[in-house]
Amino acid sequence: MVRPIATGPGKMTETTFFAVQNLSKNFGGLAAVNDLSFELKKGEIRGLIGPNGAGKTTVFNVISGFYRPSSGKILYEGENIAGLKSHQIARKGVIRTFQATTLFQEFSTFQNVIVGRYMHTRNNVWTALAGTARASERENEERANEILEFLGLAERKDELAVNLAHGHQRALGIAIALAAEPKLLLLDEPFTGMNPEETRQMMKLIEKVRDQGITILLVEHDMKAVMGLCHHITVINFGQLLAEGSPDEIRDNKDVIEAYLGTGEHAA
Ligand SMILES: Nc1ncnc2c1ncn2[C@@H]1O[C@H](COP(=O)(O)OP(=O)(O)OP(=O)(O)O)[C@@H](O)[C@H]1O
Ligand SMILES: [Mg+2]
Repeated sequence: MVRPIATGPGKMTETTFFAVQNLSKNFGGLAAVNDLSFELKKGEIRGLIGPNGAGKTTVFNVISGFYRPSSGKILYEGENIAGLKSHQIARKGVIRTFQATTLFQEFSTFQNVIVGRYMHTRNNVWTALAGTARASERENEERANEILEFLGLAERKDELAVNLAHGHQRALGIAIALAAEPKLLLLDEPFTGMNPEETRQMMKLIEKVRDQGITILLVEHDMKAVMGLCHHITVINFGQLLAEGSPDEIRDNKDVIEAYLGTGEHAA
C-alpha cells in the first residue's frame, strides 16, 4: 500500500503524507472541482484559497467522503482513500470542520466534545450520552477535558453551546474535531464573523494544534490570517489549480489578483 517516492540518488525514500491527484467532482454539467492536484507535507498549515464558488468546500466534501469524487485519487499515508465512506475516512484521522457553526446548541460545551468523540467514528452517537461507567467512557471524558483545557474552554465546559460567544463557538467546533483525533484537519473558514481579537486567538489556537503534529488544510477568506499562518498557499478558481506558492508569491501573482478582482474580493 505504501507508495515510495524516489527523491533523488542517495536520498531516502518517503511516503506522501497527503495528495490529491487529478481530482474532479461534477454536479450535473458543473465541474465544481476540475482535475485538481496538490500535495501536503506532514505537519504544515496549508492555505486553500479562492474566490466564492471556487470549489473549496467541495474539495473538503470530497476528501472527507461526504461526496464521492467523479474521478481522481486522494492519497493519504500511501493509500488511495477516494470513494471511502466518511466514517472510514474519519477513522483514519482525516477530520473536517464545517463552514457554518454546527454545534448541538442545547448541549453543554463538554457534551459537544463527548459527542465529537463518537460522531465521526461510531454509528450511534447516543451511546456517548448514556453515561454508563465503562472504561472507554471515562477515557473519553478525560480526553474531552484535556481538549477543552488545551483550547481554553475548560471554564466554559458546563455552559450550553448556544450561550457561548461566537469566538468560543468556533473554538468548540475545533474541539469537536480534535475529539476525533485527527492527523489531518480540514478547517473550513474558521475565522468567519470574528472580530480582530477573536481572530488573533484563533490564529494562536490553530498554531497550537499544528504544534501537536496535526497537519492542517485551511480554507479561509481572511487573508491576514491565511498569510500569517501558512508558509505555502494553494489557490483554486473554477475548481482548477490557479497558483501555488509562498504568501508573498501569492500576493503578487497576477492571475490570483485578477481572479479576486473579478469577484470584488481581494487577495491581500
Ligand atoms: N451539492 C451541490 N450541488 C450542486 N452544486 C454544488 C453543490 N455543492 C457545491 N456546488 C457548486 O459548486 C461550486 C463550488 O462550490 P463550493 O461551495 O465548493 O465553493 P467554495 O469555494 O467553498 O465557495 P465559498 O468561498 O463561497 O464557500 C459552486 O458553483 C456551487 O454552487
Ligand atoms: Mg465554501
